[in-house]
Amino acid sequence: MNDPIRVAVTGAAGNIGYALIFRIANGDLFGPEQPVILQLLEIPPAMGALEGVAMELDDCAFPLLAQTILTDQPDVAFDRASWSLLVGARPRTAGMERKDLLSANGPIFVTQGRAINANAAPDARIVVVGNPANTNCLIAMNNAPDVPPGRFTAMTRLDYNRARTMLAHKAGRPLTAVTNVTIWGNHSATQYPDAFHAQIDAQPAAPVIGDDNWIKETFVPTVQQRGAAVIAARGASSAASAANACINHVQTWYAGTSAGDWASMGIPSTGAYGTPAGVIFSYPLTIGDGDYSVVDGLDLSEFDRSAIAATAQELLEERDAVADWLV
Ligand code: NAD
Ligand code: LMR
Repeated sequence: MNDPIRVAVTGAAGNIGYALIFRIANGDLFGPEQPVILQLLEIPPAMGALEGVAMELDDCAFPLLAQTILTDQPDVAFDRASWSLLVGARPRTAGMERKDLLSANGPIFVTQGRAINANAAPDARIVVVGNPANTNCLIAMNNAPDVPPGRFTAMTRLDYNRARTMLAHKAGRPLTAVTNVTIWGNHSATQYPDAFHAQIDAQPAAPVIGDDNWIKETFVPTVQQRGAAVIAARGASSAASAANACINHVQTWYAGTSAGDWASMGIPSTGAYGTPAGVIFSYPLTIGDGDYSVVDGLDLSEFDRSAIAATAQELLEERDAVADWLV
């Protein structure tokens, strides 16, 4: 057996946490040969609930779970952590946009960025799930000056999974036939889920679907608004699908993308495709050996460009709103 990998999870007693940590303990991130240590962070009022979750972890008798650490201290939670999954944050309710959570959630990411900077492992990799994920990621990254910025990512994998499923259903093809899906920009209602560079059965997706109007008028807004639709239907924001997306995000970053395919994560903006500097932007990425690169050479239409510009503009506005928390 390998040495255990330390995985910090914040908000571990919350809804996503409850759907996430059992899968990590089961080996879903790194495979059946790789033990893990779970370092679970909560706020003091939720420590009792976290104790209960830890009892259930014990009661699962997971062979790969080497240790479970429960704490309300960020310095303890991120101690030597190779992976930090920043989930703990308030969710929105009906009628809110995710960016309406910035004033409530932003300070969490100042504290946690500093604690990651001081305590995490040299190979630290960070996934921000708590909303608004891109700008919270920007805050954490800015407060962790000793961690290479590229190790901070925001999760757009749930949007990617939603887009992929919708294209598969529309084309009447299995999910595995749909590849090269991109989420551009922000995990918000301005994101641009890109079907025009996606493929179905290794062919460009748009001609396979044969209905550009459906892509522009139905597919794009449905993916953009899916989080709100789940809240309207469930009375609570997505949890199991968000946890699954977080698992997928780490799996792909750890194991890499398949030949010819790509995935999407929010990363420090690179300027590619005219995107602005200084925000966390989701791009098409090829990933291997824990490193990623933005897919270059995609031919963007006017429709693509204007959708990318709209989500970039929103990210700049969010960045301006949190200027006091950026160092
Ligand atoms: P939840 O309210 O069920 O759980 C959040 C947990 O975080 C609570 O247990 C709370 O005590 C804890 N918490 C709050 N502040 C904390 C802190 N400073 N340190 C540690 N823990 C803290 O919410 P949820 O449904 O699990 O959602 C969590 C976040 O994830 C929300 O912001 C939600 O909007 C976001 N989310 C993002 C995506 C995405 O695709 N990026 C998808 C779904 C949900
Ligand atoms: C989602 O996309 O489901 C999450 O970001 C939760 C939300 O607020 O929409």
